[in-house]
Amino acid sequence: MAARHSRVLHRSLRETPPRAIGGDGVWLIAEDGRRVLDASGGAAVSCLGHQHPRVIEAISRQASKLAYAHTAFFSSEPAEALADLLVGHEPGGLGYAYFVSGGSEAVEASIKLARQYFIEHGQPRRQHFIARRQSYHGNTLGALSAGGNAWRREPYAPLLSPVFSHVTAAFAYHEKRDDELESDFVARLAAELEAEFQRLGPETVAAFIAEPVVGATAGCVPPPEGYFRAVREICSRHGALLILDEVMCGMGRTGTLHAWEQEGVAPDIQAIAKGLGGGYQPIGAMLASTDVINTIRQGSGAFQHGHTYLAHPLACATALEVQRVISEERLLEHVRELGGHLERRLTERFGNHRYVGDIRGRGLFWAIELVADRSGRTPFDPGLKLNQRIKAAAFEGGLGCYPAGGTADGRSGDHVLLAPPYIATSDDLDMIVDRLGHAVDSALKSVGH
Ligand SMILES: Cc1ncc(COP(=O)(O)O)c(C=O)c1O
Repeated sequence: MAARHSRVLHRSLRETPPRAIGGDGVWLIAEDGRRVLDASGGAAVSCLGHQHPRVIEAISRQASKLAYAHTAFFSSEPAEALADLLVGHEPGGLGYAYFVSGGSEAVEASIKLARQYFIEHGQPRRQHFIARRQSYHGNTLGALSAGGNAWRREPYAPLLSPVFSHVTAAFAYHEKRDDELESDFVARLAAELEAEFQRLGPETVAAFIAEPVVGATAGCVPPPEGYFRAVREICSRHGALLILDEVMCGMGRTGTLHAWEQEGVAPDIQAIAKGLGGGYQPIGAMLASTDVINTIRQGSGAFQHGHTYLAHPLACATALEVQRVISEERLLEHVRELGGHLERRLTERFGNHRYVGDIRGRGLFWAIELVADRSGRTPFDPGLKLNQRIKAAAFEGGLGCYPAGGTADGRSGDHVLLAPPYIATSDDLDMIVDRLGHAVDSALKSVGH
């Protein structure tokens, strides 16, 4: 029988992926009946796994009442309740939530809010944003301008805004010199950031934007100890804002609701998405400090931005239930405990692997980085597409994981990211590591190793 021709513009224009027809906890089910163990929640999205009964029930309850009302006319119960739950207690001074449809929109809103804040604060010259190389903040043009991943930026470079500049990533495996202590590395990165403020003129910088634990581009890179405290101090001293992008690493993924809680700092503006709605609805949010919002309230009185689907009632009701489940079922504790188990199992399986140079992460957010030579930390030839081979071998073996390339510098390097659902068991994690081990070895074999 001839393969059906798909009219969906898929990620690959040459291949149509198999259809997913169902989900069951940590499993995804394909139309041919195959069950795939979802070890990465897609792209660190499905924090409660698939078809969680409480979330399905909440969606159906809200859908039967009200799916949509435009925010130019109405607020809604779910939006109010979700904002109260997230920022009613003003964590780190964040007092307001702006609900959008995903991570890129949350980042765009964060950038625009920072700019508007400074206009209304009487500092209109603040228009520069400092970000980091090897970061990812989304694919819309503002977010892509902020991102520092060379490969993603390259084709669109002429369209990207020049107000974003990039400093070295806090990526110890590739950037820390062997003769440096962690504290020296942090001091060097802080000095570089300070120098960038000085180059631009500190009174022209609106914000520094960073992922507390870098996700897709570099593979679960936690910051060195003290890095974010140093960054926070530099931003505050120069009167610039700190924007933290927790689209991937936030909402419990690293073992605390916000990854910044483990860094001893708080942002002025934060972007969240993926784990907020767990994939049950498209939803993201910008969280903003009470100080920032009060300045605008006392100025123009309105954030000059907006989308049709802001604070979508069905999406907010869904995220509200996802967050209630995380809290009521004490899943953050579970993430911390299981995270320790996953780290141990990954270390047992890959710690002495000839081609695994680094195992890193936090909570249920872990990556292994593949290298051709461990001592030199030399990446494989990107032409081998090792990460894609691992992805294919894993899928063949019933494992969904999130391999990517360009780990080292945006062009070369391979890693595999794992972000299992918070409801996983230690047996599920054992199976994930086992299947990943087979996939890695079989992919390496296919390139002659
Ligand atoms: C840190 C970070 N920011 C922003 C985004 C963009 O989010 P979305 O794909 O929902 O637009 C992502 C997506 O992977 C991300 O990891």
